[in-house]
Amino acid sequence: MGFFSRFPPAVTALLLQLAAVALTLLSARLSGLQPPPLVFALLCGLLAMSLSRLVGLAGWWLPIQLLFIPALVLVLALDIPPDFFLAAFLILLAVYWSTFRTQVPLYLSSDKVWRALENLLPSPASGGGAGGEGKPGFRFIDLGSGLGGVLTHLASVRPDGHYSGVESAPLPFLWSWLRIRLSGYWQCSVHWGSFWDCDLAQYDVVFAYLSPVPMERLWRKARAEMRPGTVFISSTFAVPEQTPHETLQVDDLHRSTLLVWKM
Ligand SMILES: C[S@@+](CC[C@H](N)C(=O)[O-])C[C@H]1O[C@@H](n2cnc3c(N)ncnc32)[C@H](O)[C@@H]1O
Repeated sequence: MGFFSRFPPAVTALLLQLAAVALTLLSARLSGLQPPPLVFALLCGLLAMSLSRLVGLAGWWLPIQLLFIPALVLVLALDIPPDFFLAAFLILLAVYWSTFRTQVPLYLSSDKVWRALENLLPSPASGGGAGGEGKPGFRFIDLGSGLGGVLTHLASVRPDGHYSGVESAPLPFLWSWLRIRLSGYWQCSVHWGSFWDCDLAQYDVVFAYLSPVPMERLWRKARAEMRPGTVFISSTFAVPEQTPHETLQVDDLHRSTLLVWKM
């Protein structure tokens, strides 16, 4: 990708759209032609798609790049009030926040994954005590905790642990915070922030359901910070060149796999 490798793919895609519009405008000026808006938009789309292929964006970007400007022209023709777009933008921003940079969007673990995780928690005897109110037997963290489903499920079946979550997107964070507060899960807490700032040394079990992009860096962080004997679990996404000690296939819609490393 050369010059573009310094940008996240979404920023590269946007820059290529702008370049395509500029080049199409310039060509129209120089040729003296005035194509109708939809034809102009299709030319922009074709150019954006070709440029995207040239710089090596992943294949699934190509239809998006082709259709983006034509879709914009068609939707503008519908004369929808601008407030609608502002509201939609703000909602998407609150849900997805910095996904364009992290390349880890919000999607949720299935309840079958929640149940499979139950078996990977330390047994009550080995977890540093049987727990009880205010004295958790082990500490679990969900890196990128989404809507808090993993935390609240595990807290309901294994109340002898403490369950932390860290979530960077504001709306999922708020949702999970309310879910925990309103349901009275005193063993759960969730923080708004980045898991890159968390010290993993505090936890007995670290769980991540992210994307392929951060896995290599996350593995280095886990190796540097996690204590010997603790457990690192990645749902679905492998760590390059690191064979897990255990692999659990979950029979859910996404055919999730839990990859387990004993540190
Ligand atoms: C695939 S979802 C998983 C949600 C939840 N853990 C589950 O299993 O249902 C990944 C979540 O990680 C969050 N995320 C991505 N990068 C993050 C970061 N650096 N710090 C905290 N959260 C992050 C995203 O906002 C998203 O909600």
